[in-house]
Formats: sequence, structure tokens, C-alpha cells
Amino acid sequence: MAKKTQRDFLNPKELIKHIDIKKYNVVNMVEDFNDMAYSSRDLARAAKIYNMMLADKNCAVILCLAGSLISAGLKKLVVDLVENNMVDAICSTGANMIDQDFFEALGYKHYKGDQHFADDNLLRDLHIDRIYDTYINEDELKVCDETIYKILNTLEPRPYSSREILFEIGKWLEARNKGKDSIIYACYKKGVPIFVPAFADCSAGFGFVAHQTERPAAHVTLDGAKDFLELTKLKIKAKETGLLMLAGGVPKNFVQDTVVAAEILGAESPMHKYAVQVTVADERDGALSGSTLKEASSWGKVSTTFEQMVYAECTVAAPLIAGYAYHKKAWKGRKGFNFQKFLQEEDAKILKAKKAAKK
Ligand SMILES: NC(=O)c1ccc[n+]([C@@H]2O[C@H](COP(=O)([O-])OP(=O)(O)OC[C@H]3O[C@@H](n4cnc5c(N)ncnc54)[C@H](O)[C@@H]3O)[C@@H](O)[C@H]2O)c1
Repeated sequence: MAKKTQRDFLNPKELIKHIDIKKYNVVNMVEDFNDMAYSSRDLARAAKIYNMMLADKNCAVILCLAGSLISAGLKKLVVDLVENNMVDAICSTGANMIDQDFFEALGYKHYKGDQHFADDNLLRDLHIDRIYDTYINEDELKVCDETIYKILNTLEPRPYSSREILFEIGKWLEARNKGKDSIIYACYKKGVPIFVPAFADCSAGFGFVAHQTERPAAHVTLDGAKDFLELTKLKIKAKETGLLMLAGGVPKNFVQDTVVAAEILGAESPMHKYAVQVTVADERDGALSGSTLKEASSWGKVSTTFEQMVYAECTVAAPLIAGYAYHKKAWKGRKGFNFQKFLQEEDAKILKAKKAAKK
């Protein structure tokens, strides 16, 4: 029998395609879910709450992403939310933004794979990585690591928030006319900041390791505290906020904690007014991802009036929630906050103060 090659698994005719929420008007179906039970009714309420966030002109919407959602076909959904002012800031894991979104922005694809009969030893020999039923060309992922390394090499050596680095990556894509359909590019164009609190925990981390080793005296570093301060400033500026959280993980807690941080800064910043989370995690283990939004209210982070947990897998639930809100069109009255510009102006003020202090 002929030896299998990468091509036998990475079939260009079997690509993961990104769902287009514009194509399917799910409004009537989601509204009928209201009269059903269990997850369907939870999802209908979540969709309604997301739409309320968009109808509330003073409310900024923060999208939280964990898990492997972009490799799974949800990239265009997020781009559509960004481009139509349905999201004002993103807090994500590095895997979604770099290993998956930036990876595709470089021209690479995710392939349909097989979770039941995969021979993972053979896949390893062929340099194919597996995410459940999805295959990735590991050689291409290495190019993704290297590209981050090259971008870092072009930056002034100093501490950066992840938001600043993701902005630079957007700029890099624009200069090379690449990744026009990516989340990073859409956010760069729309002034939507992206925060990745654990930025070294993904393909970007390999780029950082190489960059810092080669340049021990002066290199780019990550300032996680600056990320948190920036997100807190954003929360204070926005006042009213709504959270659309897909999966859970670090982004969920990071964004929720801005309410507490704002309080420490003495700012009058209310709890997150609206909150929706889709997750398969449950609350029995006491961990963050499955903890209910009611529980978050005991910590003073989320108001209990408009919150909804949906215990479902995101590739099924997110197109319904986002599709419902897209076709309800409440977003048409929104302008977008351009928090990127706001945070850049804050940086400029800090720089000016530093220069003044040196004189
Ligand atoms: N996922 C990957 O392939 C991958 C690759 C490289 C690096 N990482 C890094 O690992 C860290 C943790 O990543 P994570 O967010 O993948 O794992 P996680 O285990 O932290 O996921 C967070 C929670 O979301 C839930 N969840 C995940 N996907 C879901 C889905 N599709 N539908 C509903 N609920 C879902 C999980 O059950 C979990 O409770 C991050 O820093 C990330 O950058 C992940």
C-alpha cells in the first residue's frame, strides 16, 4: 500500500468554511425557541439580551473568545460583528487570534479531519496537528510563529500591551495587502481593540522566545498589567457595558474584573449591565468557565437583571445568537466607539508626561 502523505489528509476540497450569518435569517426560529424548553429557551433569551445591548446606544459591547472557535468556522461571524458595529472590543485567547485568525490571514487554511479514526502517530509523522475533527499543517503553523518573530524584530524594544502588538499586526497585514478577511484586520480598520491577556500562550509565544533570546539586551516584552489597565480605562470610558462571551477561560474573568479594577481607581463604573455566555463547562468544579453569571454578581461584576448562560457548544449556538441580532438590525443605529483611538490617545498622554518628567 502506498505510503500516506500530507496531501491525503489536507485535502483542498475539504476545507473548513466560515459560516455567513448574513445568509440565514434565524429570527423566527430563535423567537419560537422562546416557547420551547431547556437550551433553546436559554438561547432565545441570550439572543434577546445581545440584541438589547445593541439597541442600548450607551452600551459598549465586549466580545470574549476562548476555545478553538476561529479554526472551527466562526471567523466570518466575528468579522461581521466587528464590521457592523456589533462589537466594540475583543478579549480573546492567543490561539483564536494568532494560531487561527492570523494563520489564515497568512493564506493558510484549516482542513476537515476525522476525530474517530485519526491515527495521531501518523499525523505527527506527517506534521499534521489535530483539533478534534480539524487538521492543521504544522509546517504552516511554524511560519506563523516565525512571522510573529519577524514582526517583533521590527518593533521598538519596550514593554507593550497585547492590544498594541495586535494593532501592529493589523498594520503589518495592511502594508502587505494580506488577510483582508481576518478579524485582526477588521479590528485594525474599525478601531476595535483586541486584548489577549495570555498572549505568550499560543503561536506568538514561540515568536517571543526566539525574539527575546536573540536580543537579550533590548527586546519587546509583554506588559500584562497594561492590558488590564487599558481594559479598565475602556470600561470606565464606556460606563455601560455588555458582554458576549463564547466559551469562557481567561478572557471571561479578565473582562469581568474591570469593574473591580475601576472601583479601585475610584471611578464610578457600574457592573456589566448585560452578560451572555455560551459554554459547555458546568459549575460543579468551582472553576471560572462554568461559573454562572449570577455567581459573578456576588463578586460585584455582573448585574443579574439581563444575564443568561447557555450551556451549548459555540459553533451551534453562536451563529443563532449573532444571526438573530444581525437580522433584528438594532445595530443599524450604532456608530461604534473607536476605543483603539481612545487608548492610543491615553498612551500619548503617558508619553508626554514621561518626557516632561525627564526634563
Ligand atoms: N485551543 C487550542 O487549540 C489552543 C492552541 C494553542 C494554544 N492554546 C492556548 O491554551 C489556553 C486555553 O485555551 P482554550 O480557551 O482553548 O481552553 P480552555 O480549556 O481554557 O477553554 C475555556 C472554556 O471554554 C469551554 N469551551 C471551549 N470551547 C468551547 C466551545 N466550542 N463551545 C462551548 N464551550 C467551549 C471549555 O469547556 C472551557 O471550560 C489559551 O491561552 C490558548 O491561547 C489553545
